[in-house]
Amino acid sequence: MNRPVLEGLRMNVPADVKHQRLVEWVAQIAALTEAADVYWCDGSAAEYDRLCQQLVDAGTLMRLNPELRPNCFLARSDASDVARVEDRTFICSEKKDDAGPTNNWMAPDEMRALLATGDKALFKGAMKGRRMYVVPFSMGPLGSHISHIGVELTDSPYVAVSMRVMTRMGRGALEVLGETGSFVPCVHTVGAPLVAGPDGNVRDVPWPCNPTKYIVHYPEAREIWSYGSGYGGNALLGKKCFALRIASTMGRDQGWLAEHMLILGVTNPAGKKYHVAAAFPSACGKTNFSMLVPPEGYPGWKVTTVGDDIAWIKPHDDGRLYAINPEAGYFGVAPGTNEHTNPNCLASLKSDTIFTNVALTDDGDVWWEGLTETPPAHLIDWQGRDWTPAIAKQAGVNGKPSPAAHPNSRFTVAATNNPVLDAQWDDPEGVAIDAFVFGGRRSTTVPLVTEARTWAEGVYMAATMGSETTAAAAGQQGVVRRDPFAMLPFMGYNMSDYFQHWLDLGGQVAAKGAKLPGIFCVNWFRKGADGKFVWPGYGENMRVLEWMLGRLEGTAGGADNVFGTSPRYEDLRWEGLAFTREQFHSVIGIDKDAWQQELQLHTELFKQLEYHLPAELPATKARIEERLAG
Ligand code: OXD
Ligand code: MN
Repeated sequence: MNRPVLEGLRMNVPADVKHQRLVEWVAQIAALTEAADVYWCDGSAAEYDRLCQQLVDAGTLMRLNPELRPNCFLARSDASDVARVEDRTFICSEKKDDAGPTNNWMAPDEMRALLATGDKALFKGAMKGRRMYVVPFSMGPLGSHISHIGVELTDSPYVAVSMRVMTRMGRGALEVLGETGSFVPCVHTVGAPLVAGPDGNVRDVPWPCNPTKYIVHYPEAREIWSYGSGYGGNALLGKKCFALRIASTMGRDQGWLAEHMLILGVTNPAGKKYHVAAAFPSACGKTNFSMLVPPEGYPGWKVTTVGDDIAWIKPHDDGRLYAINPEAGYFGVAPGTNEHTNPNCLASLKSDTIFTNVALTDDGDVWWEGLTETPPAHLIDWQGRDWTPAIAKQAGVNGKPSPAAHPNSRFTVAATNNPVLDAQWDDPEGVAIDAFVFGGRRSTTVPLVTEARTWAEGVYMAATMGSETTAAAAGQQGVVRRDPFAMLPFMGYNMSDYFQHWLDLGGQVAAKGAKLPGIFCVNWFRKGADGKFVWPGYGENMRVLEWMLGRLEGTAGGADNVFGTSPRYEDLRWEGLAFTREQFHSVIGIDKDAWQQELQLHTELFKQLEYHLPAELPATKARIEERLAG
């Protein structure tokens, strides 16, 4: 496309953008979507401030009290657009089998017709009357050999500002791209063209979106197309869409891993530092674990955050696995965050934060369920309505008061706000991983902590993880679903091929003579007969972490069970915590009947994942069954 055509499209290409393919693609999408004009984000602070002010003027953001929350904003989404939409998420690989039985699939040509090429394609004219923002971003430190570049085209300025917080966004990413660099194209529209109504007036709403939603991935072309939602993982395409779904397929093809894992550093009093990558399903306290404050009884121990949600892990020349956090910010669940559960997170949110769907206090601050034990007497809830404890009770369902903040309300904040940010969080080389942790939310059956005796046993633990569902995704809550590697909603290809990829990578590390990371399975969520959690969790999880490190060093004791090796009461440190042997037994014990049932569920999972299921997994299961029978 020549310059006059580009100018006709009001492309406004900055003079220093020399990447011809990028410019042509932007022009193509601008033409398809009929965007009013194009704005290239530079990622500067001035631009962020300007866009936030524009969003305030449009009613999308509200500035919070600058005395209480300097440079903080509150967004209220449309009530229909509050979470990831897994049933509208598609992996459009050429072959259905490559998407596998856990993903929604449609043939790429069919999907392209529906979205872009057909007569009534959804993206045709979808940005009419709106500006299209070009958002170049790096997932991972700029220029790191582990990082990759993406460019998101979006008609949502809320997405543009959020991407600045969540990624290394703007000029720096364009520089890395140079004239010919490769990038993952990400196209996003809220699907709400601004056109004149019957009275001839054009009216916008604070949170434009569309009841029809498509979150689409083309793994072979490494492209993402998202339609209809402005919220979180549906719209900030660097996160789940790129850093997990597309990156997992890149990892399969190139020999690395894209994982739904936090990365933490833990330093013992002798100054030895370890790095742990931990996978938990959404809203199971990953941010809390990544910012853990060691309890009394742990003087000299320090936990630091490399990442809170996603890890990209690549084998290095020394044979070990090195991880980076591809993100630059946290998009975390607000409810439940407080001085006890995560003081470092609360400290991170003091300034420069975008809150979405939390409640507003009368003095212009934010509040969410769990922030304080007693709620304020009056709030404006996440939908902009008056909220008092009495109103909440009246509007409640099944005796549960109606919450002031949406259960999936979020904060978006830069990692650099975190007081315990790891010194290596931005290291282009990444950090060497010493242990992997897999944790589900299970009120029964799965012990507090178990070490896998072999890599294959660890892959088995991760593959068969189950969890009770939470509010991060739309749909029914509290039901146990199998969530292999906490990747069920984020896998970009066939789950069984992914299991094989893990087994192969372990084999490669071992073949190089490098030490394999330990693999542990944890469950903080076992409940007692009274229906209450038995394990205190949060900072007390340090006790479990210390045991894991002891196992890596060969200094901590344990006892074998059917599943792996778990600590005995005397193998954990208890100073500063009143936790009895009986309580410990109730969170660590293996109940034979429950495990018989659990293994039935593993059989069902393996049946579902039969195509390409690695033989090592049923073989590991058979060994567990033997031990259970013995
Ligand atoms: C998230 C999720 O937002 O897992 O991190 O849903
Ligand atoms: Mn997540």
